[in-house]
Amino acid sequence: MKTNGHDATVALGGKVQGFAENDGAKGTKASGEIRLYAVPEPVMKRAHVSGMSAYEELVAEAGADHSAYWARLAREFVTWKRPFTQSLDDSEAPFFKWFEDGTLNVSYNCLDRQVERGLGDKVAILFEADDGQVSRVTYSELLARTCRLANVLRARGVKKGDRVVIYMSMSVEGVVAMQACARIGATHSVVFGGFSAQSLRDRMEGAGAVMVITADEQLRGGKQLPLKAIVDEAIALGGCDAVKDVIVYKRTGAKIAWHPSRDHWMHEATEGQPDTCEPEWVGAEHPLFLLYTSGSTGKPKGVQHSTGGYLLHAAVTTKWTFDLHDNDVFWCTADIGWVTGHTYIAYGPLAIGATQVVFEGVPTYPDAGRFWKMIQDHKVTVFYTAPTAIRSLIKAVSANDAAHPKHYDLSSLRILGSVGEPINPAAWEWYHAHVGGGRCPIVDTFWQTETGGHMITPLPGATPLLPGSCTLPFPGIAAAIVDDIGNDVPDGQGGMLVVKKPWPGMIRTIWNEDERFKDSYFPRELKGYYLAGDGAIRDEATGYFTITGRIDDVLNVSGHRMGTMEIESALVSCTELVAEAAVVGRPDETTGETICAFVVLKGPRPTGDAAKKIAAELRSWVGKEIGPIAKPKDIRFGDNLPKTRSGKIMRRLLRSIAKDEPITQDISTLENPAVLDQLMERN
Ligand code: PRX
Repeated sequence: MKTNGHDATVALGGKVQGFAENDGAKGTKASGEIRLYAVPEPVMKRAHVSGMSAYEELVAEAGADHSAYWARLAREFVTWKRPFTQSLDDSEAPFFKWFEDGTLNVSYNCLDRQVERGLGDKVAILFEADDGQVSRVTYSELLARTCRLANVLRARGVKKGDRVVIYMSMSVEGVVAMQACARIGATHSVVFGGFSAQSLRDRMEGAGAVMVITADEQLRGGKQLPLKAIVDEAIALGGCDAVKDVIVYKRTGAKIAWHPSRDHWMHEATEGQPDTCEPEWVGAEHPLFLLYTSGSTGKPKGVQHSTGGYLLHAAVTTKWTFDLHDNDVFWCTADIGWVTGHTYIAYGPLAIGATQVVFEGVPTYPDAGRFWKMIQDHKVTVFYTAPTAIRSLIKAVSANDAAHPKHYDLSSLRILGSVGEPINPAAWEWYHAHVGGGRCPIVDTFWQTETGGHMITPLPGATPLLPGSCTLPFPGIAAAIVDDIGNDVPDGQGGMLVVKKPWPGMIRTIWNEDERFKDSYFPRELKGYYLAGDGAIRDEATGYFTITGRIDDVLNVSGHRMGTMEIESALVSCTELVAEAAVVGRPDETTGETICAFVVLKGPRPTGDAAKKIAAELRSWVGKEIGPIAKPKDIRFGDNLPKTRSGKIMRRLLRSIAKDEPITQDISTLENPAVLDQLMERN
């Protein structure tokens, strides 16, 4: 290990390590030598967690008394109506409870508290619309708008514990809708605006929603896309009889179908409502929200999050991971339909009184310089996006230099973030050099819908960086790598990522599926550890974690999580055409993975133009069943799928075929080797 420069030696993970200075060749690993990006002096100086010793003190505090550590933070970061007397209750593990006898309200914590602290006139949300129009909403205004909508919800009979589905575009109203639910103790379930009527219906039915909040349309990249029409279609599919009201935010003013008995314009309903609304004080374990996500088997899981523990995790990670201070302008580019948009748009930044940018559009409209222009215009200081966006913008720059960040003034930036999938070192280096000007640490944050917030991530003022590694656990997160019976694996040897101790922001259960919750995340053989579903490896020298990808049948396409089984079910539900289907992921330079489907038709195997035509039909079928994000890029047809004699589909083989790799696997047990040639043919 090379040690030079001012940040030469720090104790890390019990080992003494050295870190190189930023001399152009750092952040790489060569011949046993690890060279890391040192923490820039100015970042370290002002950081909430300043220097590796501060990080290690927090880790030691949590190590000495895990539940007391989190209790201390819960008192510091959250305002309680009734203080809790017990931190962790593990008597019904894995159904852990945190701060259970405490009561609070999330919307009070995010809004009223900021106004009471004197931040009423501070900009909470700086909204930039698809067409570039900018509006600013202060904390006082956001509170008033939330109260007005919360009053509408109450007036329509929505009560504490009722579920409200939110199917919205990126908008201030989307955040207001979430906050309004939280204010009256209703549990929201946000459904990403790219999901189809069928998926929306399934989620409404699953949650037993009594109300839907939507918009007439959404605007993305200059295109008007329907939302309300899809809600109507979803309700017409049946099974959502509990839905009594649909509240519609007028975004584009497009002509939409109207059902007077159930539809209400948001602006009409909120008009004349008081600007105040008494918060519903709920217990810390009250479900704040459900968020459906894909698993390896069966239908999506309704991940249930708590109120107190979740809010704490959102607040503390927002503050420390992004090192947010009073004058920062934070921008998380995620959609509120995903967990990142929950924790790092709707809740975390507001819980700590930050100013944030909310963006309606897409990174490539009107051109691929949009992100950089917005950072310049709004003087964004902390920017959080996904590797897939970075990679697609790198590609755009190579096609047209005008989109290069160097044409914009990005000097306001202090810290960059990455989320959703592994960031390859080349994209990391580009992001660091060209967006961050070589001076901004990148926090590569590993976490999941289920974890509520960051789990393994650098802290910008403390952690030297290694491109491609999410580095070290957030203080208080007992991340580890184990084998399939829960024993620790030595550093340098890959294994399964687990979390050995419960943490406040963790999933509480799968909505209405307690058994599935236990089976999915706390398999018996793993000693009660939380199983993340990702593989990981820890570096021997630094103790740094690198995520090696999912160990189950979950794909990550442009940072969107998709279950292969879900896509397979969608394909075989096309009963007229499809007899059997298997879906695997293929690594992709831009999107991380792409979806590759192998299909056996009921009729003869098509070739040439006929195959292209059926592939296109199946693509739009999947788009209808799940949503455009699930459309397989590559569809191939065979007379059969490669199976073992016991009838098991050989997925590893399919993965090799999808990658156009030579087949090296043993195919002697294969029932029908002739199909391999067929499946290698692309359409
Ligand atoms: O495989 C990991 C990957 O995304 C999965 C979680 O997806 P989702 O629940 O949709 O949440 C995405 C936003 C938090 C993980 O199991 N993943 C997420 N962040 C990273 C990552 N893989 C590598 N590095 C990351 N920083």
